[in-house]
Amino acid sequence: MLKEKVLAKINDQFQFEIESAYLYYAMSAYFESINLKGFANWMTIQAQEELTHSHRLFTYIINRGARPSFGAAAAPKQDWKSPLDAMKDAYKHECKVSEMINECVGVAMKEGDHMTTTMLQWFVNEQVEEEAAADDVAQKLKLIGDNSGALFMLDSELSKRTLAPETGAA
Ligand code: FEO
Repeated sequence: MLKEKVLAKINDQFQFEIESAYLYYAMSAYFESINLKGFANWMTIQAQEELTHSHRLFTYIINRGARPSFGAAAAPKQDWKSPLDAMKDAYKHECKVSEMINECVGVAMKEGDHMTTTMLQWFVNEQVEEEAAADDVAQKLKLIGDNSGALFMLDSELSKRTLAPETGAA
């Protein structure tokens, strides 16, 4: 059985991963609106990944004999000044997720819940990739500046992103 404090943190994370998907769908729609379909694809895949993260936490709560609770999902930001502005926000968002995962680990450790700390290890590793992936695109955009040819080349590269297979037990 999950302790109350651990359940509350994991449940918050379950919901925040859904809000993350919501944000990335909003970013995808923004990129569609400026005709950068590769960036839009990258964001749609990112949104889908977030839903798998949320599902992983939902399943964990159920498997530990608890019941997830559901709050209102916050409306995401929906417009950005530029592709770089959006990608910087994506990177900042991932840094926030990392902090939240660290807090979850902290609470689970304090409560002596080794099953939860072990489950969260997957998220700790995932966040290294999540931050790096968003930062990589943001850094490329900084280098590109106002070179539209290079921007379309990057857009073409991002159009190739596909949903990575899930690793580990969900
Ligand atoms: Fe599920 Fe992008 O963190």
